[in-house]
Amino acid sequence: MKYIEIEFSLKPLEMYSEILQSDLCDIGFESFQDTNEGFLAYCQEGLFNQMKLNALIERFIVLNPDVDMSTKTKEIEQQDWNAEWEKSYPAVLINNYCYVHANFHQPLEEVEYNIEISPKMSFGTAHHPTTFQIIELLENENLVGKDLMDMGSGTGVLAILAKMKGAAYVEAIDNDEWAFKNALENVEANKFDVRVRYGDSGLLDRDYDVFIANINRNILLQDLKKYSQHIKSGGILFLSGFYIEDISILMDEALKYGFSLDNQISKENWAALRLIKK
Ligand SMILES: C[S@@+](CC[C@H](N)C(=O)[O-])C[C@H]1O[C@@H](n2cnc3c(N)ncnc32)[C@H](O)[C@@H]1O
Repeated sequence: MKYIEIEFSLKPLEMYSEILQSDLCDIGFESFQDTNEGFLAYCQEGLFNQMKLNALIERFIVLNPDVDMSTKTKEIEQQDWNAEWEKSYPAVLINNYCYVHANFHQPLEEVEYNIEISPKMSFGTAHHPTTFQIIELLENENLVGKDLMDMGSGTGVLAILAKMKGAAYVEAIDNDEWAFKNALENVEANKFDVRVRYGDSGLLDRDYDVFIANINRNILLQDLKKYSQHIKSGGILFLSGFYIEDISILMDEALKYGFSLDNQISKENWAALRLIKK
């Protein structure tokens, strides 16, 4: 599969890079790699829309006149763009209860849940606040005997943790082929029984006690109704992948389907929610 790579150079870099990446996700870009001057952004060739990108850049420049930005475009074959980072990245310890590490790190004996992940470009090493916060929220969640969905599973890290915490049935769905294959590998490496599927909310065919979706604001808004149809009464929905300022729009949508907000946390402007279904 061919990909479009856009090299963004930004001055100043801090803060604007995150905002721009979030906007790029909305028009089909799926992965990013930081550089000294900015970042590289990747989009599948079939999803790439030059007009949408031009409009996004124009709007960004109008809204952020202080930013000096330039771009370079390349067409490339799909590859593991994170390969160098993945050879030596640091492990992540969450609240001293869960340690997400690679096969080149020693597990921590004093930690209850050690999860080995080989990310192969997929999202889900716990470095990102969206993953980190769901793992934080799961710390006090009793999953024993529960049926759980991990929608937008990336590496499968949340599904693996759920199984470790005693969930009875765990399913992981991702609409990215690399992520799907990567989750299969990680589930295998951790020796847990998780049903891993390639697709999206259209695959949902049973009901869950706990439903996790760490994706992004627009997909969540689009798919919340479908998720709600597959969450049992009294069930829990964890949402992540959006900014604090998006909470109200997501809650407006969730209220329509009988959810109430039980807990909300935030980290570096990213928010994560725990909702309960009536
Ligand atoms: C933010 S990552 C989360 C990965 C992992 N669950 C974690 O918490 O680190 C979002 C994942 O959702 C997947 N995704 C995007 N749109 C989706 C959709 N409509 N349905 C299912 N998965 C989707 C992406 O491929 C990506 O792997």
